[in-house]
Amino acid sequence: MKTYAFPGNFVWGVAASAYQIEGAWNEDGKGPSIWDVFSHTPGKIANNENGDIAADHYHRYREDVRLLAELGIPTYRFSIAWSRVLPEGRGKVNPKGLGFYDRLVDELLKQHIEPYVCLFHYDLPQALQTLGGWPERQTAYFFADYARLMVERLSDRVRVWFTHNEPWVSAFAGYFAGEHAPGIRNPLAAVRAFYHLLLSHGLAAEAMRAAARQAIVIGITLNLNPVHPASDTPKDRAAAERMDLAINRLQLEPLLQGTMPLAEFAPANLLLKGLIQGDDLEKIRTLDLLGVNYYTRTVIRHDARVPLVAAAPVYPPGNEYSAMWEIYPPGMYELLQRIWHDYHPTCQIMVTENGVPVPDGIDYDGRVRDERRIRYLKQHLIQVWRAIEAGIPVSGYFVWSLLDNFEWALGYAPRFGLVYVDYKTQQRIVKDSGRWFAQVIRANALEDDSG
Ligand code: GCO
Repeated sequence: MKTYAFPGNFVWGVAASAYQIEGAWNEDGKGPSIWDVFSHTPGKIANNENGDIAADHYHRYREDVRLLAELGIPTYRFSIAWSRVLPEGRGKVNPKGLGFYDRLVDELLKQHIEPYVCLFHYDLPQALQTLGGWPERQTAYFFADYARLMVERLSDRVRVWFTHNEPWVSAFAGYFAGEHAPGIRNPLAAVRAFYHLLLSHGLAAEAMRAAARQAIVIGITLNLNPVHPASDTPKDRAAAERMDLAINRLQLEPLLQGTMPLAEFAPANLLLKGLIQGDDLEKIRTLDLLGVNYYTRTVIRHDARVPLVAAAPVYPPGNEYSAMWEIYPPGMYELLQRIWHDYHPTCQIMVTENGVPVPDGIDYDGRVRDERRIRYLKQHLIQVWRAIEAGIPVSGYFVWSLLDNFEWALGYAPRFGLVYVDYKTQQRIVKDSGRWFAQVIRANALEDDSG
């Protein structure tokens, strides 16, 4: 048995997002978001499922906060549905929407759970998409106004804020692959969307700091992964480098270095005239907390058919997979190491998501034995521990997610929760992994006997 002890002030938590759990999609004055529209469009989501009800968290938030408390989870990262508080994305405020997040924050604090608030997790107000959405620069300004509103309202109680969750996914899954809302397939629109998402981070940070009622921490959460070539051929190696640029450098360089490697995106060059303006890049480079979401690595081969990158993922047989991705724990260490050595960030670094979909079921005795999730989380936590041992100041780790929830285009089939949700009855059942994670938090250490 080996014990992996974590630093005394290490932050343990779970993460969630509004559209994936809240439901109540049109209640109490909420405006539609692009995800409401997208998921109501036949053929976009597996089994034509949608987030109309999801885990009904909007109505059951007290019970869910109680679950967090019972498991002893000290930190909860959740997102705000922009169109719940500003039904049109700008202009008129919906007091009932604001009221919900007020009550959620109060409930968390009552249970001594620190709220980490994320302002955007994919669900752009549809009214702003109608005006052009993220490919339009003005959306970044609307976002900054919304960020100011939320900070004015909640920063007396909320200290840690994230502007965006995975802006790269918002842009490229939403406007390039079209697999996420708004379902657009246009490389030019995707690059513009991505740039404006980053710009909105900078503009929002400025507005948030001005409005804050205490010293706040401003973070962003990024999807990052090590990119490996499928073979040793120069073509595949070059393709992997392009993909690394497209995923990792494109996000890290502007935020940590104040540079934008867009020009290396050769075809995009043409598209970029007028995109970067004035002191945009100085504004974007502002960060107190870098959130790293790690699930898997990416293995890449050359593929001339793919626009912008001429590269495509492959899934080498014989490796270990979940229903969605390769399971590759060493990638966690490799990624943290790379961030540290290439960028020397002076901000805090936390793993803000890590988790695995498991086809969980309820056993005869009512228990959910999700051994596979426990093993996944253990293996990845050990890699986080190794990174800390190597001197990389990783100060927190969040499991995705507390509850089973709506997994975007894949609907409800992939279950990521530490807590099982029976969607028919909305009953919550703590999985074995939930009890295991509670124990890790209590001990502030991981015990592993698998060697
Ligand atoms: C994110 C993720 C989550 C997913 C999780 C599993 O952006 O944070 O997309 O919303 O549910 O990563 O795929």
